[in-house]
Amino acid sequence: MVLLSIVVLVFGHFHMCASSSYQDQLNLYSNLTATINPTVRPVLNQSDTVRVNIIVSLLSIIEINEREQSMTSVLAISSMWIDETLQWNVSEYGDTFKVTMHPSDIWIPEFMVGNTIKNDIMVLKVNGLKIDVLNNGFAMWHSGGAIKTSCPIDISKYPFDTQVCLIRLSKSLNDNEMDISAAENYAMLVSFNENKEWNLARSVVSKETSIPNISELVVTLYLQRRPLFYIINIILPMVMISFMSILCFKIPPRSGERISYCVSLLLTFVVLLSTTAETMPRASDNISYLQIYINCQFWSGCLITTISAIIVKVDHSDTHVNVPRWCQLILGLSTCSRKSKINAQETKPDSNDIDQDQEMDIPSKSDSKTTENLKQNENIEKNNVIGHVDEMLFYIFICLFILSTFVCFMLIWLT
Ligand SMILES: *[C@@H]1O[C@H](CO)[C@@H](O)[C@H](O)[C@H]1NC(C)=O
Ligand SMILES: *[C@@H]1O[C@H](CO)[C@@H](O)[C@H](O)[C@H]1NC(C)=O
Ligand SMILES: *[C@@H]1O[C@H](CO)[C@@H](O)[C@H](O)[C@H]1NC(C)=O
Ligand SMILES: *[C@@H]1O[C@H](CO)[C@@H](O)[C@H](O)[C@H]1NC(C)=O
Repeated sequence: MVLLSIVVLVFGHFHMCASSSYQDQLNLYSNLTATINPTVRPVLNQSDTVRVNIIVSLLSIIEINEREQSMTSVLAISSMWIDETLQWNVSEYGDTFKVTMHPSDIWIPEFMVGNTIKNDIMVLKVNGLKIDVLNNGFAMWHSGGAIKTSCPIDISKYPFDTQVCLIRLSKSLNDNEMDISAAENYAMLVSFNENKEWNLARSVVSKETSIPNISELVVTLYLQRRPLFYIINIILPMVMISFMSILCFKIPPRSGERISYCVSLLLTFVVLLSTTAETMPRASDNISYLQIYINCQFWSGCLITTISAIIVKVDHSDTHVNVPRWCQLILGLSTCSRKSKINAQETKPDSNDIDQDQEMDIPSKSDSKTTENLKQNENIEKNNVIGHVDEMLFYIFICLFILSTFVCFMLIWLT
């Protein structure tokens, strides 16, 4: 249907000859076909070149498959050439300017798709579409179809990537026999159907000679991925979950919720990871920055859970923990703030501290008053140290998170 609309568009100006009769057309057709052979090039002197002008129209991009590294598109190729064997004197056939021929009756320029990955290499072969020929031998033939071509896909900037896909229109005849040229240096988009996932940034049609004397027409398509879907469904949830897993350090170890919070976030992460892995190409030379970023966030989530487990273990153990000197040095703040906190506790204890005291009272009921006081002090010290460790880890992971997010998106935007 779309192809037909192009035919009507391009051939609108041919509908000017209506004076000829059916018999005239019949005579003309039989006289023309009686003397020609479709396999012989239509030049009277066979050392001449048939010059074919081509208009490439892109009708749609069906899909780009990252796993197969392929692009499926629908092309219409309009070829124009002069057939020297199909010329006639208009007045001898009752003013007939135009004849419509079947493509199997006359010579047509045949193209192969050089980089196809289908079984069928001759995609642009004789099909049912008729050819209009004018009395001076000018012929125009429309052909085309769905073409599946190989396209190396670089996903390193996924999902903000631009892919360059080529369609190579080759021929078997050499340039001395048949010369091709593009009428326009871009693909016509008269009846182009937009793809929902890919935006066609621009297209270039050029002539390339990779094999000497056998040039080919190369259609280059620059396709931009529309990133909104990926931003909403992958990037934002990933960033949010990575951020939330750092909040682990803000949950008090005593609350008993810390580990379950961390693990459930990690599980959410794994589910998201498996859905993104599905959209990524499996075997590729390059790996996307986003994938590296997501993996880093995952490992950081694992690390946070592990550290949290250790912290909870240390917090729940009753044995006295000697804080090593290097640790005390790193936590230089802790010595002064601890003292002030102890003072604050002595003057006005709040509800949290009462809870903690009650908890601590249970195992130390039988103990004497002095040991109870000592243990309390130790516990206060331990809580303080754990609080500071949590705070420090929180800021370290927040910095790492911001830095890695910044670097990842800078790499995607700037390279
Ligand atoms: C066309 O062919 C018919 C018979 O085949 C012949 O009588 C007629 O002269 C031919 N016309 C031309 C213009 O060659
Ligand atoms: C064909 O053209 C070439 C030059 O273009 C000329 O040398 C040759 O004689 C021509 N052949 C015929 C049969 O006219
Ligand atoms: C076309 O045919 C008519 C009548 O047969 C003749 O008078 C005229 O000269 C021819 N024209 C050419 C270009 O051969
Ligand atoms: C290419 O064509 C030229 C003439 O245009 C000829 O001299 C040359 O030998 C050809 N080369 C090959 C590799 O066929």
